[in-house]
Amino acid sequence: MHTFQRYLLRASLVLLPFLAGTLPAVSGEAPQQWVKLDVPYVPTPPVTIAAMLEIASVGPNDILYDLGSGDGRIPITAVRDRGVKKAVGIELNPARIVDAKENARIVCVTDKVSFIEGDVFKVDFKAATVVTMYLFDNVNLRLRPRILDELKPGMRGVSHQFHMSSWTPDDKVMVQNKVPVYLWIVPAKVDGVWEEKSAIRRSSFTSVSHFSSSLARPRRGMRAVRSS
Ligand SMILES: C[S@@+](CC[C@H](N)C(=O)[O-])C[C@H]1O[C@@H](n2cnc3c(N)ncnc32)[C@H](O)[C@@H]1O
Repeated sequence: MHTFQRYLLRASLVLLPFLAGTLPAVSGEAPQQWVKLDVPYVPTPPVTIAAMLEIASVGPNDILYDLGSGDGRIPITAVRDRGVKKAVGIELNPARIVDAKENARIVCVTDKVSFIEGDVFKVDFKAATVVTMYLFDNVNLRLRPRILDELKPGMRGVSHQFHMSSWTPDDKVMVQNKVPVYLWIVPAKVDGVWEEKSAIRRSSFTSVSHFSSSLARPRRGMRAVRSS
């Protein structure tokens, strides 16, 4: 059986017990721990992963972080199919981390893929050039300030199915005419008071950006007086 089919099969076997918010983190003989998850484990199908990586033009210069990485399929696919230089999965459930590491080993990508057992709200992901998410609207919304503040302008966020409220996506694709995949591009940080000083004029304005589209943009030669 093809390696990808093998791990899809294993994913579907572990899916059923994971439809509650609080889950038995480790099954089988391992001692049980209880982990409070913000989102249950539901794997993204390969066709949707391909669409997520495509909409964000993921490639060899990228460092991809999957926030809530489940069995690791998104970081693993990003390395295997798109040649990213590094991919990291952040996952709270230790049982999923075990699966993900095993899947990375099977696909022979352990040199470029790693998994961090931790909470997406606490683990540092500012090195990412792309973050991928299959979470919930409200979880995306709670992550939004970190994506906007910690990622550099031009970096991308991609979400399978779930939105970011008033942050209008820069692009969207419908996978198989039913599942949306959204792309957001982190805007430049231009909010604040800008001032222009020259022999002939002195002017200032306050720029308040509304995510991707700033309502007023600084002109060449202006300096930031105060950023918000
Ligand atoms: C819907 S699954 C998506 C898995 C994978 N990203 C995919 O698309 O196939 C969400 C994952 O997020 C994990 N998760 C939930 N809350 C989390 C949190 N606060 N920090 C890290 N991972 C979390 C769950 O254990 C689950 O594996």
